[in-house]
Amino acid sequence: MRTKLFYPNKELWADAAINSMDEYHRLQDFAKNDYEGFWDSFAKEKITWRKPYTKVLDDSNMPFVRWFEGGELNVSEQCIDRHLNDKADKIAIIFQGEKGDIQKITYKQLSIHVNKTANLLRDHFGITKGDRIVMYMPMIPEAAYVMLACARIGAIHSIVFGGFSADAIHSRVLDAKAKLIITADGAFRRGKPYFLKPTVDEALAKGECDFVEKVLVVKRNYEDINMVAGRDEIYNDLIDTMSDKCEAEIMQSEDPLFLLYTSGSTGKPKGVLHSQAGYILWAQMTMEWVFDIKDSDIYWCTADVGWITGHTYIIYGPLASGATTVMFEGVPTYPDAGRWWKMVEELKITQFYTSPTAIRMLHKVGDNEPDNYDLSSLRILGSVGEPINPEAWEWYYNKVGRGNCPIVDTWWQTETGGHMISPLPGATPIQTSCATLPVPGIMAEVMDKDGTPTAIGEKGLLCITRPWPAMIRGVWGDDERFKKAYFGECKKDGKPVYFSGDGAMVDEKGYITITGRTDDVINVSGHRIGSAEVEASIGNAPMVAESAVVGQPHPIKGESLCAFIILNLKEHAGYEEMALEINSIIKKEIGAFAKCDRFIFVPGLPKTRSGKIMRRLLRSISVGEEIIQDISTLEDPSVVEEIIKATKEQS
Ligand code: WT7
Repeated sequence: MRTKLFYPNKELWADAAINSMDEYHRLQDFAKNDYEGFWDSFAKEKITWRKPYTKVLDDSNMPFVRWFEGGELNVSEQCIDRHLNDKADKIAIIFQGEKGDIQKITYKQLSIHVNKTANLLRDHFGITKGDRIVMYMPMIPEAAYVMLACARIGAIHSIVFGGFSADAIHSRVLDAKAKLIITADGAFRRGKPYFLKPTVDEALAKGECDFVEKVLVVKRNYEDINMVAGRDEIYNDLIDTMSDKCEAEIMQSEDPLFLLYTSGSTGKPKGVLHSQAGYILWAQMTMEWVFDIKDSDIYWCTADVGWITGHTYIIYGPLASGATTVMFEGVPTYPDAGRWWKMVEELKITQFYTSPTAIRMLHKVGDNEPDNYDLSSLRILGSVGEPINPEAWEWYYNKVGRGNCPIVDTWWQTETGGHMISPLPGATPIQTSCATLPVPGIMAEVMDKDGTPTAIGEKGLLCITRPWPAMIRGVWGDDERFKKAYFGECKKDGKPVYFSGDGAMVDEKGYITITGRTDDVINVSGHRIGSAEVEASIGNAPMVAESAVVGQPHPIKGESLCAFIILNLKEHAGYEEMALEINSIIKKEIGAFAKCDRFIFVPGLPKTRSGKIMRRLLRSISVGEEIIQDISTLEDPSVVEEIIKATKEQS
């Protein structure tokens, strides 16, 4: 165990928002002793309310909670308008294109773009409060304008990550019954244009979406794309004539803000619903506490707006805090492995927030590359999305941060809206590969299903035992699924509590180390993939009778997918050929990032008598581990030997 602690330098961090463990404990004790008082004090201080709320928390109908009831606000005003008095000329967004093109957008300019876009949506497309808009967009400033324009008029955006396929867009459009789809012709990647609009066309061609009235296309790469007359319109042609004043819709605290689909252990992706006040409050508070955001900072989160990290920590959190946030269109290794470090040097980045997968990749392709750049502007390094292994942590800490920058290993989820467990840079002594302590206000506990705390050093279930403001408010259109998926597993004092799906361990200091998913969700490069979803897709391959997908360790991606396949035909093509065919189906139905790295063709799968596949056993077999699981409960224990044999033969 690596338990060496790295303490923050007191002098350096004197001005930090939370600058000592005493202050951390004072805040956390405040929350523990007077939960509503704690949140009330911050909600009053941080949010510019149109109308004050009358009740802090209503949890009488758990898990359906209501925060800041009676309050009225507008999230776009929180992110833009309220900064216009004193920060109109401050840079809100620095956009860097793949080719190096730069746009610096001030708060004043951002306001103009967002107001115009909001008017376009409202007046030209007839979008009103509560309408859903699906976005399938690259990392360009217009993605930010559209998100904030939706917030301004009360429309609910649902962003589909650009790596998803037409089928994935189609099912999300269908589930949300979106009225409008906003996309781009495409963008640039690795020096070349790529396309998005044709994928939207393909999605709509699948039918059943008559409720989609229009497709709005932003021009980015200016390549030729097909336009459907009467349905498709070009943003760039319409936007100039729009007024730059758009009256903000008055929103209730609990009105929906956005939907974001994410994978669970069973079934189709769930539309995670977030609401207005609680979400924006926590986005802003964590920017101040975890990233210690200051007026002079240039903050860069490398995520994509298609994931929750991009929502909360590229757009909503930084802008609510009045910060300067960087948006980057490209990939970390183009034109070379120094691209990101060059950007840090040139833009004088102060906070840098990325994923362990990216760190491992940059370490691998350019171990000493950071030495070639002046990275002295950096104050804080962040990690998110998956467990960060010690080797990656140490390289990040020593090479990128030069031993001077705390790493905030932030644990959270699409459903939590913002950070939950993380070091605070000016207070928490950090430890290699450890997310450390709950952020003040968050009641995270490691326990068993009945709420008994797990012993120190043992693995338990990571639960959040009190509702928090940025908590998921529901699964779109499926209350039962919401209750079952998140509040169906664990109880404390006899009452259901939020279970994250992750396992964790607590040490004697109270530090929490995340040990990974305990369910059938696989984390590939920080992307959440449900085994059931991939299996459903594999099942559409004609030669497949049944399959089971598990995660196996991968040196860069963290985990990769390994599929065990039962064939339904005696006569079949070669293994490699079938693997390619199955992967092309996964690519079509989900996206290329969900392709399997390895296929093992087996005569049977290990099933319990009730028909449940023991995926954990398959995971052990895939990596050649000794089988310690009890296999006597299997329907047919002899199948295990056969699977082991097939795995060895095909390795
Ligand atoms: C799952 C959530 C949080 C935004 C990006 C991913 C894993 C997330 C960490 C971390 C270990 C982590 C968990 C979690 N995860 N952060 N710092 N250490 N694991 O959001 O797609 O909703 O995935 O990512 O397994 O449940 P997401």
